[in-house]
Amino acid sequence: MNFGNGKYEAWQKIQTEKITPDAVITMVEQSGLRGRGGAGFPTGKKWRLMAAVTGNQKFVVCNGDEGDPGAFMDRAIMEQYPHTILEAMCIAGYAVGAHQGVIYVRAEYPDAVTALQTAITQARANGILGKNFDIDIRLGAGAYVCGEETALMNSVMGKRGEPHPRPPYPTESGLYGKPTMINNVETLANIPNIILHGPANFPNTKIFAVSGAVQKCGLVEVPIGTTIRDLVENYCGGAKPGHVIKAVQIGGPSGGCVPAHLFDTPLDYDSLKQVGAILGSGGLIVLDETTCMVDFAKFFVQFSASESCGKCTPCRIGTKKMQAILERLTKGQGTPADLIQLRTLGEQIMATSLCGLGQSSPNPILSALNHFQDEFQAHLQGICPAGACFHGYHITDKCVGCGLCAKKCPVGAIHGELKQRHQIDPAVCVKCGLCAKNCPVHAITGGNH
Ligand SMILES: Cc1cc2nc3c(=O)[nH]c(=O)nc-3n(C[C@H](O)[C@H](O)[C@H](O)COP(=O)(O)O)c2cc1C
Repeated sequence: MNFGNGKYEAWQKIQTEKITPDAVITMVEQSGLRGRGGAGFPTGKKWRLMAAVTGNQKFVVCNGDEGDPGAFMDRAIMEQYPHTILEAMCIAGYAVGAHQGVIYVRAEYPDAVTALQTAITQARANGILGKNFDIDIRLGAGAYVCGEETALMNSVMGKRGEPHPRPPYPTESGLYGKPTMINNVETLANIPNIILHGPANFPNTKIFAVSGAVQKCGLVEVPIGTTIRDLVENYCGGAKPGHVIKAVQIGGPSGGCVPAHLFDTPLDYDSLKQVGAILGSGGLIVLDETTCMVDFAKFFVQFSASESCGKCTPCRIGTKKMQAILERLTKGQGTPADLIQLRTLGEQIMATSLCGLGQSSPNPILSALNHFQDEFQAHLQGICPAGACFHGYHITDKCVGCGLCAKKCPVGAIHGELKQRHQIDPAVCVKCGLCAKNCPVHAITGGNH
């Protein structure tokens, strides 16, 4: 990462060379910078729209909420380059005609808060802040939905961190009903270099927070367009010894997974969309054969269900229903109808939820279902190819209803009519495996087999 030396050189350049707000916006447009907070909206276009809005009071907001599990690139930037964020916000305020900035940062990032607070005090003492433009910090309480811009603004205003439908967009009616422009931390961190070195020299890199089944995890900064294969194999050292990488999950709870046969896909906004994932804010989890895709999908839906603010029904209830289906599947109690229902529910939640949380929460599940259909199907047969699910036993539809298993079961956990598929009560089963051993048609799976 090289986001400058904190000497406000880009800001000084604008002042000494009398670069107009319009020219600043043109430079940002020419750089091709797109928002790093998830949606990838062109930053110059956002600034141009905001500059065109008239109003005696406007706000610029830096979004440092960073709620994606496993993501910590914004945290690193705020801790290491706090002055760069302030400088970028001064430039943004100048370009769009705002005099007040707000940095929204989660309270779980105490070092980032201290770094930013110290930098604000220094910048005020040096006359950079406080005259034409000033910045305040607002702390978030760690709700994922508060990274969504309309919920964020409610939280800044001391209201409940719930989203509202757009329009109105923040640039029309934002904080306290005034035009407000929201940019992500990493997006802003690129601004001083664009001004200082010119848009043609903007390297257009993206920082990824890589975790999971690779030899080297951590923050990796690569040019946008680098292939997944290059990132995983060359930058991160490839699979751990004796293992085989089968997929990456990109974009956190709004993102999707990309299977290994598509690893030549470039890490850019449009290519990832084509394979059912998103660049998102940069969380990237590498998965090998020991991860069960059904179980993995369950983790993400659990996250979305617990982080749903509850304001709209599709997200509040729909994510819980998806979670229940995935729980059944990972217990070996799923049915073919569950897979159909999972897809239908996912599509409905996406189409009808109020904000981006609900609209994107089915993505990790649907992309796992699309790319790893065989693993989902195997779970219907009581098989978890990764060996992660089914710590108990399950009677599959091969059962001929002979009743031998029920006779052999020492605790009476198996029930069923003769010539009908039998059932095991998981609450009673002691997982001795006698049923599976004695089944004449090998209809009983489980115990990780
Ligand atoms: C559920 C949800 C959570 C989000 N969390 C963040 C976040 O933590 N940080 C962030 O910058 N953007 C987040 N966003 C995107 C913001 O709403 C907004 O698009 C972004 O801050 C705009 O900045 P950018 O144009 O620089 O990307 C989130 C969106 C959704 C739907």
